[in-house]
Amino acid sequence: MCYVHHFPLSHFCFVMRIDISCFLILSFINSVKLIDDECYMTVPEIGKQYGYESEVHLVRTKDDYILELHRFPCRMNEKCDKFSKRPIVFMQHGLLADGFSWIPNLANQSTGFVFADSGFDVWIANSRGTPASQKHVGYGPENKKFWNFTWQQMSEFDLTSSIDYVLKETKQEFVYYLGHSQGTMIMFSRLAEDKDFSKKIRHFHALAPVATVSHIGGLFGLFGKQFLTYAEILLGRLPYSPLSIPRTVQKMISYMCSKFLMQNICTLDIGFIDGNEKMFNQSRVGVYLCHTPAATSVKDLQHWIQLVKSQKVAKFDYGKDGNMAEYGQPTPPVYDLTQIDTPTYLYWSRDDILADTQDIRDSILSKMKKTIAGSIELPHYSHMDFVFGIKAAFDLYPGIIKTIKDDFNRYQITRRLRKVS
Ligand SMILES: *[C@@H]1O[C@H](CO)[C@@H](O)[C@H](O)[C@H]1NC(C)=O
Ligand SMILES: *[C@@H]1O[C@H](CO)[C@@H](O)[C@H](O)[C@H]1NC(C)=O
Ligand SMILES: *[C@@H]1O[C@H](CO)[C@@H](O)[C@H](O)[C@H]1NC(C)=O
Repeated sequence: MCYVHHFPLSHFCFVMRIDISCFLILSFINSVKLIDDECYMTVPEIGKQYGYESEVHLVRTKDDYILELHRFPCRMNEKCDKFSKRPIVFMQHGLLADGFSWIPNLANQSTGFVFADSGFDVWIANSRGTPASQKHVGYGPENKKFWNFTWQQMSEFDLTSSIDYVLKETKQEFVYYLGHSQGTMIMFSRLAEDKDFSKKIRHFHALAPVATVSHIGGLFGLFGKQFLTYAEILLGRLPYSPLSIPRTVQKMISYMCSKFLMQNICTLDIGFIDGNEKMFNQSRVGVYLCHTPAATSVKDLQHWIQLVKSQKVAKFDYGKDGNMAEYGQPTPPVYDLTQIDTPTYLYWSRDDILADTQDIRDSILSKMKKTIAGSIELPHYSHMDFVFGIKAAFDLYPGIIKTIKDDFNRYQITRRLRKVS
C-alpha cells in the first residue's frame, strides 16, 4: 500500500539542495548504461521484450480524465484471435503503484504474463495520476484541478469507464477482476454502491484486501495516531498536488539499490513499512524502485489517513460544512459492504502488516459472509509479495487461474444449453 521507503534519501537530496548534482551523477550513470533498460520501459514495452503482443487503449472517463489501459491478448510469441471467447482478467494495481505491479519479474513469475500464457485476455489498468494516465481533456497535470481526486474517484469513474470500455472492445459480458491493495478497495466500494456495475464483474479476486485499516502496522503502527496527525497537517499544506518523487532522484535510488551491497538495505527499508519482503528477486530491486512508487495525489493519501483515524470505509471527509455541500449530510457516507453480491475470493497473509488479518475479519469477512467464495491464507507473504514476490507464481496464481477457468467453462456450457433449449 504505502511505501515511502526511500523518503530519507530523496529528502536528503532536497534538503542538501543537491538535486543538480544528483542529476549530474545520474547523467553519468545513464551514459555508461548502468541502469537496467526496463527502468525506462513502459508496460507494453516490457511485454514486447519478453515476446508478448501488446496494445495500448485510451479510455475517457465521465469526468474527462484520459487513462491508458494496457492489454496482453495472446500467449508469448503467439498471434491469436482477439475476439475468440476467453476469460478476461482485469488487473488493478494498488496505492503508489501502477500497471508495472503485474509484470515486475521474469515472464513465468509475473502475474500479467502468467495469465496471458494461461490463455487469458489480460487488461492492465493505470489509475488517474500514474505516469501512463496523467492526461485530462481540459487541462494537464500542471493544473491543480488535475490532482483533486482520491481512490473514491478511481472507484466511481476510472473503474466504471475502463470496464465498460473493455467489454465493448471485446464484445463480452463480464470480466474477472484481480485487484491488489487499493485496487481491492476501489472494487469493494464500487460493488457496495452500484448493482448494475456488479453484473459486469463475474468474480472479484482480492489480493492483500483492504477495506478498513484500523489495525494497520508498519510506519503507521509504529508512530501511531500522533504521526498521522502530523502527516495530515503536512499534507494539508499541499492540497491538490501530486505525490511523487522526481524522476532523476528515483533513478538514482534505483541505481544504488541495484548494487549488490545496497539490495538488502533497500528491501529492509521497504520492509520497515510493509512487513519483511522475503520473496523479491534481490537483483531486480533497482527495477522495482524505478517504477514504484508511481505518482498519485496528495489527497489520496489524505483520504487513507482519514480511514485509519475513523476506522471506517467512508468517502472523503471535507469537514462538516464541506460534507453538507458535497454529500448533503454532515459526515461522509460510509460504504455498505453488506450490499455486495459478487462472488469474492480473498488472498491474505498474517505477515502482511498493511492488510491486517483483524481488519479483514472485522470489515470484510463478517459483512460479506454470503458472498465470500474463498478465503485463502498465504504463508509469510508481506504486502508487496502478492505482486512482486517470485513465489506467487507457484503458490498463488495457479489457484486463481483454475478457479476462473472452471467457472468460465461452466458458464459456456450453461450458455450453450440455454441456446439449445
Ligand atoms: C475538488 O473537488 C471537490 C469535490 O468535488 C470540490 O468541491 C472542489 O471545489 C474541488 N477543488 C478544486 C480546486 O478543483
Ligand atoms: C532475477 O532477475 C534476473 C534478471 O533481472 C534473472 O536473471 C534471475 O534469474 C532472477 N532470479 C530469480 C531467482 O528469478
Ligand atoms: C520459470 O522458468 C525457470 C527456468 O526455465 C524455472 O526454473 C522456474 O521453475 C520457472 N518458474 C515457474 C514459476 O514456473
